[in-house]
Amino acid sequence: MGDSGDHGRGSSPVDVAPLNASSYLDPHYWDERFAAEEHYEWLKDYSHFQHLLRPFLNPSHSVLEIGCGNSRLCEELRKDDVADMTCVDISPVAVERMRSRFRDKGLEGIKVVQADMLDLPFGSESFDIVIEKGTMVKAEMLFGFTEDVLFVNSGDPWNPHPETINKVMKMLEDVHSVLKPEGIFISISFGQPHFRRPLFEGASFTWSVEWKTFGEGFHYFFYILKKGRRILKSDDCKNERSDVPSISLLHEELEDEDYMFRTTLCDELEN
Ligand SMILES: C[S@@+](CC[C@H](N)C(=O)[O-])C[C@H]1O[C@@H](n2cnc3c(N)ncnc32)[C@H](O)[C@@H]1O
Repeated sequence: MGDSGDHGRGSSPVDVAPLNASSYLDPHYWDERFAAEEHYEWLKDYSHFQHLLRPFLNPSHSVLEIGCGNSRLCEELRKDDVADMTCVDISPVAVERMRSRFRDKGLEGIKVVQADMLDLPFGSESFDIVIEKGTMVKAEMLFGFTEDVLFVNSGDPWNPHPETINKVMKMLEDVHSVLKPEGIFISISFGQPHFRRPLFEGASFTWSVEWKTFGEGFHYFFYILKKGRRILKSDDCKNERSDVPSISLLHEELEDEDYMFRTTLCDELEN
């Protein structure tokens, strides 16, 4: 399986590919991977979406990244003047290596916390911005959005298992809770709006849901959820259109970007 991200520039070429997709279910997979791998960017590195994220950054903001892995996003944000930066990951190996990297680079001010995003150890209204990049996709796999659900011939992507929904919603509830009243959740993902919106627009959330895309040829989604700014359904089609045909196959999304085909929700609503 080829991870569909930017291979870490300057990192050693190590064999970290799982035997199969279900290896992501094994918590030891991540520890073993991070023990062998110095740096890897899932999806894309900061330079590809900096133009989308930067307008939301403010030096006085507190920023939380969930599922940081060994990405350089935290340090890139520090370079962009984010002073109060926290990143969390469930893998103790990732956390230790990240702390060591920050020590070596004199970036001790960046807090690195081992935590489960289903049970974030922060008080409510702690952060101005929460960011996840590629973590929710994996979370969906970990939580049961496997090929059994989303693979084209073997499941119904429109009706995921209730247990799956419950776990994803728990993650989103935690994110919603730790955001300040006008905080913003940024989710950078393969996940298409017609699958993400039913989750993001859960009844208990007060955030508005917008998205943009980035990437050439293959598009990634950059979701912007602004707490306290929920909008009416009639505003939905103001979101950016993507111009490729429909069919989302999470299995293939994770296996190979070439299989990624999308359409806009608004096209579907119009038809
Ligand atoms: C696909 S990687 C993305 C890493 C990084 N965000 C990036 O863009 O390169 C997913 C990360 O989520 C972490 N992770 C998986 N389950 C988690 C959980 N329940 N809580 C926190 N982190 C989790 C993994 O250890 C891994 O670092």
